[in-house]
Amino acid sequence: MLKIRNVSKAFGDTRVLADINLEVKKSNIFGIAGPSGSGKSTLLRCIQKLERIDGGAIECEGKTAFMFQDFQLFPHMTVLRNLIYAPSLRNKSGASDCKKQAENILKTLGIASKIDAYPGTLSGGQKQRVALARSLMSNPDLLLCDEPTSGLDVSTRSDVVSLLKSVNERFRVTIIIASHDLDFLTNISDRIVLLKNGVIVVDINPQAEGAPIDLLKAYY
Ligand SMILES: Nc1ncnc2c1ncn2[C@@H]1O[C@H](COP(=O)(O)OP(=O)(O)O)[C@@H](O)[C@H]1O
Ligand SMILES: [Mg+2]
Repeated sequence: MLKIRNVSKAFGDTRVLADINLEVKKSNIFGIAGPSGSGKSTLLRCIQKLERIDGGAIECEGKTAFMFQDFQLFPHMTVLRNLIYAPSLRNKSGASDCKKQAENILKTLGIASKIDAYPGTLSGGQKQRVALARSLMSNPDLLLCDEPTSGLDVSTRSDVVSLLKSVNERFRVTIIIASHDLDFLTNISDRIVLLKNGVIVVDINPQAEGAPIDLLKAYY
C-alpha cells in the first residue's frame, strides 16, 4: 500500500535520507529502527508530507494519519473536543456523527470514561490513547507512529504493544512505527528495517524463526 522509491532528503548540507527504497504491505505493522539521529522521524514526516522530499517518489494508497511523539493534544480542550475539533471543521453539519464516532473510538481504546477530562489530568498512557483516538477520527488507511513508547514507563510500554496490535486489527489500519526501542519493535512488528545515517542497513522479519535480531543491536 506504500511504495518509497529512491527517496532522498537533506537539511542544508546534512544528508538525512539517502536513496531509500521500501514497500509496506497492507495491514502490516512495519517497524523503522535506528539510533537517534538516523532519520526515522524525517522518513515518517516525508510520508505524511510534512517535509518535502528532494528526490524519488512516495506512493501511498489511501489516507494517512500521524501520531506525534509528544501527542500534541490541545490542553484547553476536553478529550471529546480534541477528537472532534478537526473533523467538525471539515464537516459542519455532521457534528453529532463526529461525536458518535469519537465515543465509539474511545470505547474501543478503553478510555471512554475520560471523554470530558482535560489532557492535563491524564496519565502518559491515557494521553497516548487519546492521541491515538484522535488520529483514528479521519479513518486512516495508514497510521504513522513516531516513538510511541518514549515518555512512558516500562509497565505502560508493554500495553502499547497490545494497544497498537488491537488498533491494527479492529480498524484495519496499516501501521508504521519509528522507534529506537528494539525490544518493543521486535515484539510488535511484522517487519523491521534499520536506518543508520539515512541508509537502510538491515531488513528482517522479526517473527521468523531464527531471525537475526542481534544484527539490529550491533548498529546501536
Ligand atoms: N527541520 C530540520 N532541520 C535541520 N535538521 C534536521 C531537521 N529535522 C531533522 N534534522 C536532522 O536530521 C537528522 C535526522 O533526524 P531525525 O529524522 O529526527 O532522526 P531520528 O528520528 O532517527 O532520531 C538529525 O541529524 C537531525 O538533526
Ligand atoms: Mg525521531
